[in-house]
Amino acid sequence: MRIIQSESTAEAIRITAEAVLERVQSHPNSVIGVATGRTMEPVYAELARIKRERAVDFSKCFFFMLDEYVGLPAGHPSSFREYVHRHLEAPLGLRRDQIACPSIGGDYEQTLKESGGIDLQLLGIGQNGHIGFNEPGSTKDSRTRKVVLTESTRKANQSQFHDEEVPREAVSMGIASILETKSIWLLATGTSKADAIKHVLNVHDDPKCPATYLKSHAHFTLVLDPWAASKINLKI
Ligand code: GLP
Repeated sequence: MRIIQSESTAEAIRITAEAVLERVQSHPNSVIGVATGRTMEPVYAELARIKRERAVDFSKCFFFMLDEYVGLPAGHPSSFREYVHRHLEAPLGLRRDQIACPSIGGDYEQTLKESGGIDLQLLGIGQNGHIGFNEPGSTKDSRTRKVVLTESTRKANQSQFHDEEVPREAVSMGIASILETKSIWLLATGTSKADAIKHVLNVHDDPKCPATYLKSHAHFTLVLDPWAASKINLKI
């Protein structure tokens, strides 16, 4: 595992966006795994900004979404598919057929296999250590499946739903699916992630904190802003 402790949130965001850009510039037909959530919004904004500056070509890339809520009608503004449309597809000028979204009844694992696998996987982290929607209790051999969301995750995501109820279920790529990706970049920003990050660094393969499984990946980079890193001390 490589840990990058940045000097500011803006720097952490820039480092993460640059990792994607470097990959796409050196391999235009890259397969990128994308996370949703507030953490990633400025990363995608930075990607769009740099794309305009350097004319990066995303037209040959393919994107796999990590997860999606179950039960939201198509086009629901709080669905992750709409999030990806707003923050990635439209700003980067992607075609709809460049993006795959997991769904009930679809064979996502087969689609992943047929793509040749994800070259670079972007991840955020839940306050309870979830990755994608692999909540505490998820096993290391889990694959894309329907999952039940914890109350704490539903509460953390309530602001995206205004007065509406947050769905109780989702479909998520599994831990095994994530560990098969060729490189993983997890970005954590803000004090609300500090406890989860401390746990990731101190504990190994803990089902109660699924992000700990990532440490067995050969190419795992953890990018932290000063607040997410505020409960760890790597300088001793
Ligand atoms: C979300 C998503 C994850 C995301 C995490 C953290 O609900 N399922 O992909 O990384 O929870 O979200 P945020 O970045 O909003 O804190």
